[in-house]
Amino acid sequence: MAEVERAGLTGRGGAGYPTARKLAAVAAGHGPVVVANGTEGEPASAKDKALMTRSPHLVLDGAVLAAEMVGAREAVIVVHPAARAIIGEAVAERARVRFDRVRMKVRTAADRFVAGEASAVVHWIERGVPAPRASPPRVSERGLRGAPTLVQNVETLAHLALIARYGAAWFRSVGTPDEPGSMLVTVLGAVREPVCAEIAIGTPIGQALEAAGGRSAPLQALLLGGYFGDWVSAAVAMDRPFSSAGLADLGAGPGAGVIAALPAGACGLKETARVVRYLAGESAGQCGPCRFGLDAIAGQVERLAHGRGADPGLLQRWLGQVDGRGGCAHPTGVVRLIRSSLRIFDAELRQHAMGWCCGTASVLPVPPGRSR
Ligand SMILES: Cc1cc2nc3c(=O)[nH]c(=O)nc-3n(C[C@H](O)[C@H](O)[C@H](O)COP(=O)(O)O)c2cc1C
Ligand code: SF4
Repeated sequence: MAEVERAGLTGRGGAGYPTARKLAAVAAGHGPVVVANGTEGEPASAKDKALMTRSPHLVLDGAVLAAEMVGAREAVIVVHPAARAIIGEAVAERARVRFDRVRMKVRTAADRFVAGEASAVVHWIERGVPAPRASPPRVSERGLRGAPTLVQNVETLAHLALIARYGAAWFRSVGTPDEPGSMLVTVLGAVREPVCAEIAIGTPIGQALEAAGGRSAPLQALLLGGYFGDWVSAAVAMDRPFSSAGLADLGAGPGAGVIAALPAGACGLKETARVVRYLAGESAGQCGPCRFGLDAIAGQVERLAHGRGADPGLLQRWLGQVDGRGGCAHPTGVVRLIRSSLRIFDAELRQHAMGWCCGTASVLPVPPGRSR
């Protein structure tokens, strides 16, 4: 655990919480359980699926190691349907040779955006309901069957296994002193070959795009972090390090490692409207801000995007009313995305208000049948 602290590993599921701190908190509880979170509910992200299909044993090594570190006898591997068979095979291989002392169970993840939130993962394993639970208590205090539960993203667990093998100094040999190590990114949109790649944290964004063969068209903006992330101007972002510190003054961060490139001919407001409508439909609908707020907000963003008499003042007020509220970070994430779109697509907003927009919208993936 001290080695993990020295390594400075942080969670790769989006929030970037220090892993050593979470391990210590769960280890202090009685009868803990480990959950490997391979749900990857974010439609723009493919890195966890890529990792689980290419290196299933690395993820399992990390899960077993985490269980041994916190004193858990059981690890539940929650896996996206795309990687279910390969993880199942890897678990069976280990069981055949009695490789681990920790009991491993595999559970196919629910295919919903909010299903990957830590308490939703626990709820899904326990009751088959992919919806977050009210917190506090956090799952690290009372999670699966009431036990302290370590929910850790599968990429985080893979890094944990590598730190155990090669040490903290090796881990720190790439990245920045404050944000050490490498991370998996998904690069998509207007690039030649959409790809999942491993980059050192702090790699310039332009260089990360090169991993996908470079841009396939002139770019106007990038969506960084995922659907709870931020739009930034492409010209400003290209030389910026892909790290929290490198993007902080743009109001952005690496989030879940998504870099989506928006070509000059696309309409960022329409893209945002499609994603917000999808996210509004993905809420578990159990708290006020989601149930009553997101649908109305999605409607206003659609009006803005399609020049249909939106009321920007009303939209701002509604954003303020749902920001930071709800049982989980879903409404706050949606607000963040919309606010960044209003900042970056300011010129388009004025054009749309005058009734014209020639941009198209089909860059960001939204699962079929869920957008209106
Ligand atoms: C709406 C929502 C969806 C989330 N989806 C995922 C997910 O698909 N995979 C994931 O690892 N974390 C997801 N998270 C973050 C988890 O709650 C949790 O922070 C993470 O799994 C912890 O692992 P880490 O510390 O290794 O990052 C989501 C959070 C929210 C609010
Ligand atoms: S805020 Fe929304 S997504 Fe989160 S628990 Fe409440 S209803 Fe569900």
